[in-house]
Amino acid sequence: MKQDMIVVLDLGSEENPKIAREIRALGVYSEIHPHDITLAELNALPNVKGIILNGGPNRVVDGVEIDVSQEIYDCDIPALLVDHRGDDPWPAGEEARKTALKNFVFTICGAEANWNMDNFIADQVELIRSQVGDKKVLLALSGGVDSSVVAALLIKAIGRQLTCVHVNHGLLRKGEPEQVVQVFRNEMDANLVYVDAVDRFLDKLAGVAEPEKKRKIIGGEFIRVFEEEARKLDGIQFLGQGTIYPDIIESGTKTVKAVKSHHNVGGLPEDLDFELVEPLKMLFKDEVRACGKALGLPDSMVYRQPFPGPGLGVRCLGAITRDRLEAVRESDAILREEFAKNGLEGKVWQYFTAIPDLKSVGVRDNRRTDEWCVIIRAVNTVDAMTATVENVPFNLLQHITDRITSEVKGVNRVLFDLTPKPTGTIEWE
Ligand code: XMP
Repeated sequence: MKQDMIVVLDLGSEENPKIAREIRALGVYSEIHPHDITLAELNALPNVKGIILNGGPNRVVDGVEIDVSQEIYDCDIPALLVDHRGDDPWPAGEEARKTALKNFVFTICGAEANWNMDNFIADQVELIRSQVGDKKVLLALSGGVDSSVVAALLIKAIGRQLTCVHVNHGLLRKGEPEQVVQVFRNEMDANLVYVDAVDRFLDKLAGVAEPEKKRKIIGGEFIRVFEEEARKLDGIQFLGQGTIYPDIIESGTKTVKAVKSHHNVGGLPEDLDFELVEPLKMLFKDEVRACGKALGLPDSMVYRQPFPGPGLGVRCLGAITRDRLEAVRESDAILREEFAKNGLEGKVWQYFTAIPDLKSVGVRDNRRTDEWCVIIRAVNTVDAMTATVENVPFNLLQHITDRITSEVKGVNRVLFDLTPKPTGTIEWE
């Protein structure tokens, strides 16, 4: 392993991820580990230069105050103790705190600032090769940031021992399935199985209007298609997963209850019996993007905005029909193109169009029309729990409206959603 490490031992502080990120921002790798780690386990971690014991409001678990074992207190690894009983080693104020952290990491621990993407990738390539050997790995490649970066990393490590399965369920944005094929099959020479499951998904979804039922069908059908493809392949022993650090943190630790459970390929049948390969599980989202860039993935893949798993399926409101699905895909592509041209890409957190099951009267070429309307949504948020509406310039909205109503078949009206979250949610379904 190439990089030094500072270990944060979790004694119930909600600030632990922030501290780990601050240390990484100093150029030193940092991981959070549970309070009950043994000295032998700690010693088995590579290049540990220091430990931070950080207590906090969740220190009492099931009525008992947790602590690290005495052997950790007694070991000779430099330690920064954050004690709820009295002395607080963190000085007040953000700047002073950062200075104290820097002093601990570099002066007291003597850590080297050698955490960078090139070293991370080199280490992971080595680790993946030693885990996988000459066996085969399967990966569900959606084209989202996390699965794309895992794919690129696995391709670098084991090349064609990796099989990527891309399921096109017909609910992806314009150009996305084509981009997956172009980048991975044509440019990276990946072993890519492309599954055209469009009809299968749309047939299953026909007439289903209830959003949660739509989500269940899309998720369930995805697993069935993936499972069918997995069974066609011989000798697969590993499953690659795009699990990232926030997934692990949000799934709960020994001191923090689960915010939500994550399962990237949730619910795969147990008889498929794979061992997992999760090379990004210690990276925060911005680091995953940096890793993808360092591996040569295009910006449009690495910096893409969040996109829900059920895709356009929850933006074609109510029962999905092929004409409205195409209209939402085309209008979304126009919106994305115009936002990119006008410097809003990367500035606005999430933006998209949705199409309700609603027609209105209009006029085109001196004739009365009865056509769909399209809703534009553009929001900013930090954690998706609340959101504010982007102040999109009015003339840009007019231009986008002109383009959508003239280029998208069957649409005669465009609406802009002014609702923050709450009271609206980000998506319409
Ligand atoms: P809401 O609509 O709840 O969305 O304000 C918050 C964020 O979550 C995304 N979202 C989903 N992501 N599967 C996903 O993977 C889903 O079913 C889903 N529904 C909403 C949404 O795009 C937004 O970023």
